[in-house]
Amino acid sequence: MTQAARDLYEGFPVGFFSRVDEGSDSVFFEQDRFVAHIDDRAVAAVGRLYEQLGLDGRVLDLMSSWISHFFHPPTELVVLGMNERELRANTMAAAHVVHDLNIDQELPFDDDRFDAATCCVSIDYLVRPIEVLRETARVVCPGGVVVSTFSNRCFPTKVIRGWLELDENERCALVSQYFERAGRYADVEVARCTPIEAPGDPLFAVWGTVV
Ligand SMILES: C[S@@+](CC[C@H](N)C(=O)[O-])C[C@H]1O[C@@H](n2cnc3c(N)ncnc32)[C@H](O)[C@@H]1O
Repeated sequence: MTQAARDLYEGFPVGFFSRVDEGSDSVFFEQDRFVAHIDDRAVAAVGRLYEQLGLDGRVLDLMSSWISHFFHPPTELVVLGMNERELRANTMAAAHVVHDLNIDQELPFDDDRFDAATCCVSIDYLVRPIEVLRETARVVCPGGVVVSTFSNRCFPTKVIRGWLELDENERCALVSQYFERAGRYADVEVARCTPIEAPGDPLFAVWGTVV
């Protein structure tokens, strides 16, 4: 890690971004999982949030699979993830890219290629999330929204250890901190998108506007 990268992660405890399974993500995610990773109500909360935020036009769905949760497909959806068969099956997507963000945080897209970007129930798998959010801001036009949604379900051996130590509010604060530290976002907001008392999977979101 360069000194600049170390500075981005200053203050995080040693081992925070390590994982129980440090094996290749491409091996772990090679297995097809044509499932919803959160329940129907949480999926609907993701779609509702995308509507509220007005996500449309050219949208990049990071860490995607066979579903992207939009109520109305954006004009052009590009999906990036690890499992090619899942990505190919994403009927909303105009194009897909297999790319391991834990090996290479640089995104294979030109500057300002997209109008918005999403990352659903996946930011907890990233070992260099700040660089990924910084890169995402490069490929999204100024004024575009980048949104990360997350719940409390995960593949525990593949998420960063720090995530497993935190409660829901702390996870919101952590993701918000990722956006702040990426240094390319204004108006970073945090929301709980499912009611507190309701049963089922909770859904949280953090989003920011690219400057
Ligand atoms: C819990 S699933 C969520 C999939 C999808 N976003 C959804 O809402 O159903 C986690 C996803 O993250 C992707 N992923 C995991 N590690 C990754 C990595 N290192 N680089 C890129 N994508 C990754 C996997 O391909 C998988 O589809």
